[in-house]
Amino acid sequence: MSLLTLEHVTKSFGNLRAVHDVSLEIPKGKIIGLIGPNGSGKSTLLNVISALNPADSGRILFEGEEISKRSTDEIFGLGLVRSFQDPSLFFKMTVLDNSLLPVKQQQGEKPWRAPFHHLWRKQEAAAALESSRLLEQLLIRKHYDALASDLSGGQMKLLELGRSLMGNPKLLLLDEPTAGVAPKLAYTIFENIAQMRENLGLTFLIVEHRLEILFDFVDSLYVMHMGQVLTEGSPAEISANSAVREIYFGE
Ligand SMILES: Nc1ncnc2c1ncn2[C@@H]1O[C@H](COP(=O)(O)OP(=O)(O)OP(=O)(O)O)[C@@H](O)[C@H]1O
Ligand SMILES: [Mg+2]
Repeated sequence: MSLLTLEHVTKSFGNLRAVHDVSLEIPKGKIIGLIGPNGSGKSTLLNVISALNPADSGRILFEGEEISKRSTDEIFGLGLVRSFQDPSLFFKMTVLDNSLLPVKQQQGEKPWRAPFHHLWRKQEAAAALESSRLLEQLLIRKHYDALASDLSGGQMKLLELGRSLMGNPKLLLLDEPTAGVAPKLAYTIFENIAQMRENLGLTFLIVEHRLEILFDFVDSLYVMHMGQVLTEGSPAEISANSAVREIYFGE
């Protein structure tokens, strides 16, 4: 079954059609890659799906329900969570606090409950434990009380991934999760993604320029070029596709 469906989605900025007539399907439980040259519309497409930049036209369906007119909050609430090309962390907060931000229904945030510790202490402890487990898996637990600004670029990407997972997602839209990360760590990030798909049944749509890593982990890929979907296929099909080779390598 398709978890996310896009039908003829278009988004323009003035005269520039950044995303033009894009249709695609993301099946539940799959890891799908989204690749294409710089400026081909990949980040814009993620912005459109997550309602940061709503589409001009077309339909977006999540679990069969139209979400094209929903707000970013509502979309997050449905379990559609994204990460950003440039880490969008709260840099003056600790690693642990950043990771706890997306936890839904936090009782301690309700003004009439906040003064009464016993009403939310257990929930907060459970979330902290869950976060600690995730940060450990992502190899950044030892930095839990450091400020996010003190992390390296690669660790920030790991924290963004961990934070996305604390939002209890069904579908993660990841924009270049390994940008600026050393190759070995980049591979570890993808191994984590594969494990999360396996253990938690999550679905991923991943924008990534490091094709040599991406191709080892995705079930299939969409290739964008000048705002449109050029083609779709398995890693083997995409590597052998002459149109893709031309836009990537000028062959
Ligand atoms: N908010 C905006 N206002 C105007 N133009 C924009 C805006 N966002 C993106 N664009 C333009 O839309 C086009 C697609 O940009 P986008 O960032 O989606 O590409 P991308 O495929 O993510 O590229 P990269 O691989 O470099 O991240 C580009 O020409 C870009 O300049
Ligand atoms: Mg981008």
